[in-house]
Amino acid sequence: MCGIVGYIGKKNAVDILIDGLKKLEYRGYDSSGIAIVDGTQLIVEKAEGKLQNLQNKIEGLSLYSNMGIGHTRWATHGRPSDANAHPHTSQNGRFAVVHNGIVENYLTLKETYLAGETFTSETDTEVVAHLLEKFYNGNFEQTVVKVLDVLEGAYALVMVCADEPDKIIACRKDSPMVLGVGDEESFVASDVPALLAYTRKCMYIEKGELCVLTKEGIVIKNHDLQPIEKEVHTIEWDAEAAEKDGFEHFMLKEIFEQPEVFKKTLAGRVQQGKVQFDEFTLTKEQISRWKKIYIVACGTAYHAGLVGKQVIEKLVRIPVEVEIASEFRYRDPMLDEDTLVIVISQSGETADTVAALREAKLKGCKVLAITNVVGSAIAREADYVIYIWAGPEISVASTKAYTTMLIAEYLLGVYLAQQKGVGEEAALTAILDGLQQLPDLAAQMLTEDYLAQIQQAVASYRDVNDIFFIGRGLDWSIALEGSLKLKEISYIHAEAYAAGELKHGTLALVTEKTPVVAICVQESTYDKTASNIKEVKAREARVLAIVNEGDNQTQKFVDSVLAIPKVHNFIAPVLAVIPLQLISYYTAKIRGCNIDQPRNLAKSVTVE
Ligand code: F6R
Repeated sequence: MCGIVGYIGKKNAVDILIDGLKKLEYRGYDSSGIAIVDGTQLIVEKAEGKLQNLQNKIEGLSLYSNMGIGHTRWATHGRPSDANAHPHTSQNGRFAVVHNGIVENYLTLKETYLAGETFTSETDTEVVAHLLEKFYNGNFEQTVVKVLDVLEGAYALVMVCADEPDKIIACRKDSPMVLGVGDEESFVASDVPALLAYTRKCMYIEKGELCVLTKEGIVIKNHDLQPIEKEVHTIEWDAEAAEKDGFEHFMLKEIFEQPEVFKKTLAGRVQQGKVQFDEFTLTKEQISRWKKIYIVACGTAYHAGLVGKQVIEKLVRIPVEVEIASEFRYRDPMLDEDTLVIVISQSGETADTVAALREAKLKGCKVLAITNVVGSAIAREADYVIYIWAGPEISVASTKAYTTMLIAEYLLGVYLAQQKGVGEEAALTAILDGLQQLPDLAAQMLTEDYLAQIQQAVASYRDVNDIFFIGRGLDWSIALEGSLKLKEISYIHAEAYAAGELKHGTLALVTEKTPVVAICVQESTYDKTASNIKEVKAREARVLAIVNEGDNQTQKFVDSVLAIPKVHNFIAPVLAVIPLQLISYYTAKIRGCNIDQPRNLAKSVTVE
């Protein structure tokens, strides 16, 4: 949560900061602000609400500087307000700080070092600015080191000092940060999309490192302020990938990108009927050692894990448990060297998932990560990484990352089975053949006609208060994802139920006022799900069913159907979730919701 950006060079920093913040607004959008140093004067402007409010505020102020820092906030300490917006400044107005993370010991720091000082915000971050003033000895870099020595918690911090306006200092611990290397200009940001318009050259930094950005370049130093060498990486994502590209919302654009990103997730990973990953190789002996697998993740990634469990158990015959990351680490799970822990995270920086990964490593487990972000904490700390190659996902509601996580899990399932030598070769090949068809089949679905059918099907959802999603097995896993998506962006209360479980209590809630979305794609459970649909129909619920193409039965006893193309039934969730994504999208749209930036949420959750 929170997006930070910094620029120093020859151009007007104000334009670059605002542009960078636009690209990071998905990380938080309850307030924003910038600080620039003009000559030796520190100028700070902030505004509650969307970035546009800040833009309106600074329009006409003719702000100009070659350096500055900016922030877009997702509130943790203190409500969204002008005062709580970053940058925060020291009492003497010479230091400004932007921060993503939490200073856990801020109350102790206030008491120990800053007693009697006046604070203008309710934030934890303001102590950092005050400490900079308190510890300043005429050397900005040394002062930052002293401040870092007393901070506890997680942070990405970017700081300026009006008395040393030729530099910006940045550092991080457990919160994301990427440095952009330009030509006579330097950048820092929470995420790559903020840099793409300016540079493809980037550097990742580790805990305890201090980055000194000047217009001549970036020097990274250790705790003793000795320079250290860093590899410069090239960002492969292109700038267009982070723009809306004519779509009304990023979410719709990202749903439409699925056929293309499916190709990227699969590219080069199936060779002569065998799965291989460039990133790592696992031997039969290594895999055979694992007696148990945990899949650990949050939110949509957790839902992907539920599919992963069924894939791995079926194909590899190793028991799999799926756990919510925020629960996993606090319940002393039984982990040892014979356990593989798979963490799934689009951003690769979700605090609970990172913490679960560390817990697993402490207990001696190998950790395999499925993630989208190269260089993220999870990618760096895991033993093995499978990238989903979904490209930047900007919409807060995850779509293409979810489906590519599923594809990665199918690939992993087949890979583990092949390497371990279990399962029938023909059955595994059939799955791989099916996976190869997914890009074309997804593209076939995304037609104007299909979108019109979905809009028609959800027209009556505008004023409902509750919706149920039901299904069995893999259909239930995607029902959970469909229900989360709907809650998240349309603010309708939605619940996903294992279809057979409804009658054990929840059926009491089903009336003509609670529409039901039934997923009837899995052939092995079709008859049972059909019976459960009849139970809700008998309570007068309107039912929209997701069915396989060619299913002429279901339409006879439901109100409307949306078909998915015929594909190997085991991998059908990848396609069957697409109408669910679109149901949420169009429901949110007719309800006038802010689709890409739903209330109270942020794209990446770097607090526990
Ligand atoms: C919902 C959504 C979230 C994320 C969750 C984990 O649409 O996107 O539930 O899935 O916050 O995020 P990552 O995958 O970045 O760890």
